[in-house]
Amino acid sequence: MFITLEGIEGSGKTTQVRSIVEFLQSKGHTCEATREPGGTRIGKKIRALLLDPESSDMDPMAELLLYTADRVQHVKQFIMPLLSAGKTVLCDRYYDATVVYQGYARGLDIGLIRSLHKLILKDLKPDITILLDLPPAKGLARAWKQINNGSRTGVESRFEKETLAFHEKVRSGYLELARLEPERFRVIDASKSENQVRKEILSILSSFLMHP
Ligand code: TMP
Repeated sequence: MFITLEGIEGSGKTTQVRSIVEFLQSKGHTCEATREPGGTRIGKKIRALLLDPESSDMDPMAELLLYTADRVQHVKQFIMPLLSAGKTVLCDRYYDATVVYQGYARGLDIGLIRSLHKLILKDLKPDITILLDLPPAKGLARAWKQINNGSRTGVESRFEKETLAFHEKVRSGYLELARLEPERFRVIDASKSENQVRKEILSILSSFLMHP
């Protein structure tokens, strides 16, 4: 089973990963958590390049191709072998992030992004995608608080430095994707407490495991 987590900066995805893995393991699933960009040794180098605030002059097309390069390496080296062995993979961001950030927010052609992924990744889709939704002003305030108190690294802050308008486009892009594919997406209000969000995620996964 392939599960993905999506959401704007500061939506709390990363905080929820450990509880989800523990929950899935308690239900008998061998589960591996991973993330994009940076789920492989090569991907970590690509991630550093992509998220470095000094990469502010990166061309959007170069950005798209680097995220895609990271994903090809990740899918072939990590995700596919696990899925083929019957394991469960929980991925913090995947292809939907590219459609939203590089497509809806940067303005690259979404048809091109879809074709690229179809061609390279044979359209590997998550079985379920959990979208943690909240207003960008709130998400960014949380993200900057974490950067300023050191619990999140400032060397990866290129996207946090984007304008509020950019993050509004990211949020509405995600909500649009969720509207287009209601059978795959589950949307959670991530402005609630960490505990409440965890309860909702686990309850969604519980019913999904019963009726996949
Ligand atoms: P994160 O790992 O802290 O969530 O940061 C990854 C950043 O990269 C985040 O700002 C979203 C961005 N991103 C894209 O722009 N396109 C993508 O395809 C992915 C996976 C992430």
